Amino acid sequence: MDLSTSYLGLKLKNPLMPGASPLVDNFDNVRRLEDAGAAAIVMHSLFAEQIEGNQTAVNRHIERWQDNFAEATSFFPHSDDYPLGPDEYLGQIAKLKKATSLPVIASLNGTNVGSWTDYARQIQQAGADAIELNTYFLATSRTMTAADIENRVVSIVVSVRGSVNLPIAVKLSPFYSSFAHLAGRLEQAGADGIVMFNRFFQPEIDLENLEVIPKLDLSTSEDLRLRLRWLGLLRDQVKLSLACSGGIHFPSDVAKALLAGADVAQVTTELLTRGPQRLADLLKGLTEFMAAQEYESVSQMIGALSLRNCPDPEAYERGNYLRILQLWKE
Ligand SMILES: Cc1cc2nc3c(=O)[nH]c(=O)nc-3n(C[C@H](O)[C@H](O)[C@H](O)COP(=O)(O)O)c2cc1C
Repeated sequence: MDLSTSYLGLKLKNPLMPGASPLVDNFDNVRRLEDAGAAAIVMHSLFAEQIEGNQTAVNRHIERWQDNFAEATSFFPHSDDYPLGPDEYLGQIAKLKKATSLPVIASLNGTNVGSWTDYARQIQQAGADAIELNTYFLATSRTMTAADIENRVVSIVVSVRGSVNLPIAVKLSPFYSSFAHLAGRLEQAGADGIVMFNRFFQPEIDLENLEVIPKLDLSTSEDLRLRLRWLGLLRDQVKLSLACSGGIHFPSDVAKALLAGADVAQVTTELLTRGPQRLADLLKGLTEFMAAQEYESVSQMIGALSLRNCPDPEAYERGNYLRILQLWKE
């Protein structure tokens, strides 16, 4: 059985890797992930605010999820271990390259072109195999148009593309008016792949203290459904590599992501809560599924149920909505 896949031009032994998180700030976790069969390492993000010197904004971000991770266990790094500053981040890339034979994907997180995009060149020099750009941005101003927001993302890709010849993946949120159009623009701008999707952490209202509080909800397999739709819709419209990020908890989730059109599946919540070795279970379950369904290779699976290949394309589109609403019975 051939589990190999290609992602951002990298030949990977299988389609499973950890998603960006502090999990891999710790080398013990990296070794355990490698032992469990991970095909690549995606690093925790370095934030534009860190590179440009606004550490307060970064600390606010870190505390936000740290406070909400009461169940965090020992493989979660201690707060003193992160965030890595820009120099430490470059050192970490070099150390990871020594510690593991796996491809290392560095992650840069920013919302606008700035001096941080030049930092991509240093990431390349430090030996990373690819860069993931997280463009997490929440447009809250009524003066900002949809086109303005898309142009920001495209400009970031153009800027980083001008600095490096490393493969670039763009991690996006699903909240764009025309996601497929944006994906096409990013491809033209020089991106090599898209990571679908970022999860926005929604605020919560604390009724006892009458406060709005940040809250990090970990994902469930339900989060996968939005990814499946967009993987299926995009697969045949772009040549970009597609990574599924969000809602991968069981081997069946991995299989679904591949069938819809993902080249790889990134796993975060499941590894943070159950430990790096969980990746081996996902891999084993995937091979069992492939054997049962007589798939000989992962490449045969990728996109086998994309919009073009799906026996009922309406399932991805408006027809699905109509049918479900019309057929609803108590
Ligand atoms: C504690 C925590 C830290 C994260 N840190 C990052 C990060 O530094 N950069 C990033 O792009 N995504 C980050 N993410 C988002 C994950 O990479 C992933 O996209 C998201 O959690 C959805 O995947 P999941 O359902 O497998 O958790 C983080 C998620 C969690 C839970």
